[in-house]
Amino acid sequence: MFEQQPEAIQQKVKTLATQSQKSDPTAWFDILYSEAEGDATQIPWARLTTHPYLQDWLNFSQPQGKRHTALVIGCGLGDDAEALAKLGFQVTAFDISPTAIAWCHERFPDSSVNYLVADLLALDGKWHRQFDLVVESRTIQALPVKMRQEVINCIAPLVASGGTLLVITRVRDTDAVPDGPPWALSEQELGQFIELGFEEVRRNLFLSEASGNTVKQAWIEYRF
Ligand SMILES: C[S@@+](CC[C@H](N)C(=O)[O-])C[C@H]1O[C@@H](n2cnc3c(N)ncnc32)[C@H](O)[C@@H]1O
Repeated sequence: MFEQQPEAIQQKVKTLATQSQKSDPTAWFDILYSEAEGDATQIPWARLTTHPYLQDWLNFSQPQGKRHTALVIGCGLGDDAEALAKLGFQVTAFDISPTAIAWCHERFPDSSVNYLVADLLALDGKWHRQFDLVVESRTIQALPVKMRQEVINCIAPLVASGGTLLVITRVRDTDAVPDGPPWALSEQELGQFIELGFEEVRRNLFLSEASGNTVKQAWIEYRF
């Protein structure tokens, strides 16, 4: 998530995330977006283009968008949602940060995407099994490991029967709790999707270097 960012922004994110751990671990996202005052360089994960791993999956899988619904979880500044809309998906995209969603509306005033402020951890059930494609890119890893089970439990019921879940995330090799954010996912944590009835269809692994460490990221496609 932050590997190519200036040290000062990385430090700000760590400080904000650490401060909000005690009360509300999701509170810092809107603070970060609003303090950025419209400058996307202040948002460490913002690329202002389709995430390259989503693009890789789209190129590989060639999903059929027309007459299909898609949900983008933690949509940030909206680029991934827009990419799916261009393929013909009827897209709903939500984020817990009102500032991020206002920014999406500002960036894409004529968009067909239904951008909404919503908390993944407090959805009201109307989206139960509603989406042919659910894309979760780097939101699970942005929330502490102690919330992982709850977060995955909230994502799973959004996927329609026969639908696809795409997870884009860092992965880690051990069960030891990593330093974060981001908090990479372990195989055991990913196994919760299987326990909840998903089948892993395929994954693509990407290795990169950051501050002398190897970072392991993946897109993982599941079918429900
Ligand atoms: C690391 S960013 C990733 C943004 C985008 N998906 C991407 O890959 O560029 C995580 C996003 O999830 C949002 N988020 C965090 N907790 C959330 C929650 N409980 N419900 C909805 N969105 C959440 C944050 O506001 C932030 O935009």
